[in-house]
Amino acid sequence: MLKEKIEKAYAEIKATIPQSEAELEELRIKLLGKKGLIPGFYAQLKEVPNEQKKEFGALINNLKTEATDWLENLKTKVVKARKPGADDGTDMTLPANFLSIGGMHPLSIVRQELINIFGRIGFDISEGNEVVDEWTNFTALNMPHDHPARDMQDTFFVKNLDQHVLRTHTSGVQVQEMLKGKLPIRTISPGMVFRKDNDATHSPFFHQIEGLYIDEKVSFKDLKQTLYYFVKEQFGEGTKFRLRPSYFPFTEPSAEMDIEWNKNGESSWMEILGCGMVDPAVLDNCGIDSKKYSGFAFGIGVERIAMLKYGINDIRVFYENDIRFLKQFIPA
Ligand code: DAH
Repeated sequence: MLKEKIEKAYAEIKATIPQSEAELEELRIKLLGKKGLIPGFYAQLKEVPNEQKKEFGALINNLKTEATDWLENLKTKVVKARKPGADDGTDMTLPANFLSIGGMHPLSIVRQELINIFGRIGFDISEGNEVVDEWTNFTALNMPHDHPARDMQDTFFVKNLDQHVLRTHTSGVQVQEMLKGKLPIRTISPGMVFRKDNDATHSPFFHQIEGLYIDEKVSFKDLKQTLYYFVKEQFGEGTKFRLRPSYFPFTEPSAEMDIEWNKNGESSWMEILGCGMVDPAVLDNCGIDSKKYSGFAFGIGVERIAMLKYGINDIRVFYENDIRFLKQFIPA
């Protein structure tokens, strides 16, 4: 009797193909659950005569192993065939997990603003290399080898590339653009620059945007008006700024521009750019007739603009990739 029952159970198990995880679980309970078929057989073993116990015990054990293997096998098949959302308990109407899409780095935001501002008055974009030869970075810009002005910029020299440096400023792109020989030139050059310098307001690398305008009859008046327009667009009407006479080897006359800001509760000035009329010797170095053409140039510190815009007083936060800092610039 018991033997037949067990054989019938075998057949039944093999004939059942559950279509879902729920059906599979039902089958498992039917076979192996506390009140299931197989524990039931074990219970019936008590009634089997002693001399047959061994034989029947082995039969039931076999059945149990087979059933367990069979269930395991079916499980793999059912899970594989699972379609998303198909009665596996997934509620497809639940809101999706929140995925942060990130945002622009504050320096990228400011760089783009500057590109837009100058783009509106006809400046195109030019780019140069970060590793440049000394002639482009210094000599062509009126800084020959022995010129003390080279000391103004603590330079990283490139070890395995003779007479090459990590560009100390974007002014070398002026040289590159002038050498192309196409006039007039009205261009801005955004990019990273490198100097051996490191404290709360200086970093060994930072970003500049170089500006260059060369045509016939360009004067200091044009430079001033361009910069006034830039300040108004970037910082808003009424922002206090000043142009201070200064010195750069490649411009004559030269100036620096400062913007008023609130430094620890007190009004102060922050330098944001250097500028001037392109020195005629630089034009000549780059193959432009300085009798016919004149021009102005400027170099803006992108970090400085961002520090003023967002009220940041330590330049290093821009490069630490601290998500708590960067998160503040993700648009709501
Ligand atoms: N290259 C200068 C610097 O990095 C900034 C500068 C000054 C750029 C005057 C200019 C300029 O184009 O005319 O300190």
